[in-house]
Amino acid sequence: MLLLMPFILVIIQCELSTGNKIKTDIDPSKTIIWGPGLRSEEVVMRARYIFLQLYDTDGKNITESPGDGIVMTQIQGETEEGNPCHLWKQVFDCKDGSFIIRYKIYRTCYNLNIILRIKGKDVPGTPLTFKGPLYEEECDCPNPSITNWLNNYECPENYEQIQRDLAPFESVDFDEMRNAIIQRFDRPNSVSICHYIIKDNKVYRRCYGQHVDFKIFVDEIFLSLARKVILPNVELFFNLGDWPLVSNSVPIHPIFSWCGSNDTMDIVLPTYDITVASLENMGRVMLDMLSVQGSTNIPWQNKKEKLFWRGRDSQRERLDLIDIAREHPDLFNASITNFFFFKDEIDKYGPRQNHVSFFTFFEYKYQLNIDGTVAAYRFPFLLAGDSLVFKQDSKYYEYFYKDLRPYEHYVPVKRDLSDLVEKILWAKKHDQEAYKISRTGRQYARKNLLPQNIICYHVVLLQEWRKRLKNRVNILPNMEEVPQPEHACKCESGVNQENYIKSKDEL
Ligand SMILES: *[C@@H]1O[C@H](CO)[C@@H](O)[C@H](O)[C@H]1NC(C)=O
Ligand SMILES: *[C@@H]1O[C@H](CO)[C@@H](O)[C@H](O)[C@H]1NC(C)=O
Ligand SMILES: *[C@@H]1O[C@H](CO)[C@@H](O)[C@H](O)[C@H]1NC(C)=O
Repeated sequence: MLLLMPFILVIIQCELSTGNKIKTDIDPSKTIIWGPGLRSEEVVMRARYIFLQLYDTDGKNITESPGDGIVMTQIQGETEEGNPCHLWKQVFDCKDGSFIIRYKIYRTCYNLNIILRIKGKDVPGTPLTFKGPLYEEECDCPNPSITNWLNNYECPENYEQIQRDLAPFESVDFDEMRNAIIQRFDRPNSVSICHYIIKDNKVYRRCYGQHVDFKIFVDEIFLSLARKVILPNVELFFNLGDWPLVSNSVPIHPIFSWCGSNDTMDIVLPTYDITVASLENMGRVMLDMLSVQGSTNIPWQNKKEKLFWRGRDSQRERLDLIDIAREHPDLFNASITNFFFFKDEIDKYGPRQNHVSFFTFFEYKYQLNIDGTVAAYRFPFLLAGDSLVFKQDSKYYEYFYKDLRPYEHYVPVKRDLSDLVEKILWAKKHDQEAYKISRTGRQYARKNLLPQNIICYHVVLLQEWRKRLKNRVNILPNMEEVPQPEHACKCESGVNQENYIKSKDEL
């Protein structure tokens, strides 16, 4: 009787497997892995990540979740004293045949070993071992060579958007324009702007304006970069407000901003939203560009065929959307979650509805990216999800929008939303095309909007900016240093940061 038990179990398992064709078709030996987590010594992040794509026996991508228990991961390392590393691991089933494996280390780790197995077989290229040291995000151990660092991070040499944005600034001498910029933008009631200097890999700033709390986001990224690589000495002005500042009229001053527009000339860079999500994934934030890919549970064919939207009342068209949604309850589930700008219309468009977890958005097939005060900073997260994104035409853009093509990465809708219903009906009728666009959107996000990419964009921009600065970069008397957070960390010997900086000529 006892001996028979295993046989019965085997039979049951086989029956279950044949019921789900995918499980039997996976060929573990064809699995591919990629991502910065394959270079865990060189690429320091709060959460290091690896992608994994399953293939079937015909060499085709698996495109659905294989179910639980197929992918096994084990990550272990040692502290300097030889104790097990304290680490936190997450495995996301992206429900499309791919997985994200990521882990966070709390202290410097050595001899890190990553085992990845599919149905009990080692994934090609694994197990991975990293002798170390593997630094945690807080370690202030910058790579002295920015060139090597850019290679390690596989950063592109340049970005079209950066070239476009910097084109008007071939040669910048702040000694000539610094005071004019400060005079022009020191308007405390309407503008919040900070003057930053990065010198000898230390960060200094002075802010102008009444509401400058958002400076912590800029501090955070600059400090994080400075812990990773010796940054070029630069001077710049950073706009902490949402609205771009630099109108087309001369003189055109160089201002770094999170949002650009068709009629301004700010130098754009990733929004604080996606930047913080990139620095803090597995840290302070729940929603980031990786978790959004692994926290939606519903395959395309089972998603509700409606457009789902939640947000505040920060633009007239958002209220118009509520009108349209009420006329077509079969196509929409849309509500305002907060009234601030149009409080007097709360009777018509309210009452306000409770917040809904962003992950639940993707229970629905259709998503809408509609401007708030400026570009809606949720766009990267919508693209990375697995629904179809409709994008309202807008003069506002983030640093990556110009890469995107209508009907390739998203479905365009008019600014006044007058064709929104028609476009949803189109998507319902052309379900395969709609699905394909949603996939291409996610692929784009995976290649361009992940933490690695966000970090790269900042460093490449600073480097390009450095090339255009003609004045010597000097700390100004009224600036304060933004210190690195206290954190004990032993950097690998041989790199003596102080000496390196001192011997380097002022570029
Ligand atoms: C298969 O998956 C890989 C990794 O996600 C992707 O780069 C590739 O484009 C996919 N191939 C097809 C035919 O979808
Ligand atoms: C709209 O979405 C909310 C949040 O998911 C849900 O509670 C509600 O039942 C939905 N409304 C309709 C009419 O489906
Ligand atoms: C802004 O410019 C882009 C192309 O650069 C264009 O597609 C879009 O329609 C413009 N939008 C507005 C509202 O000006």
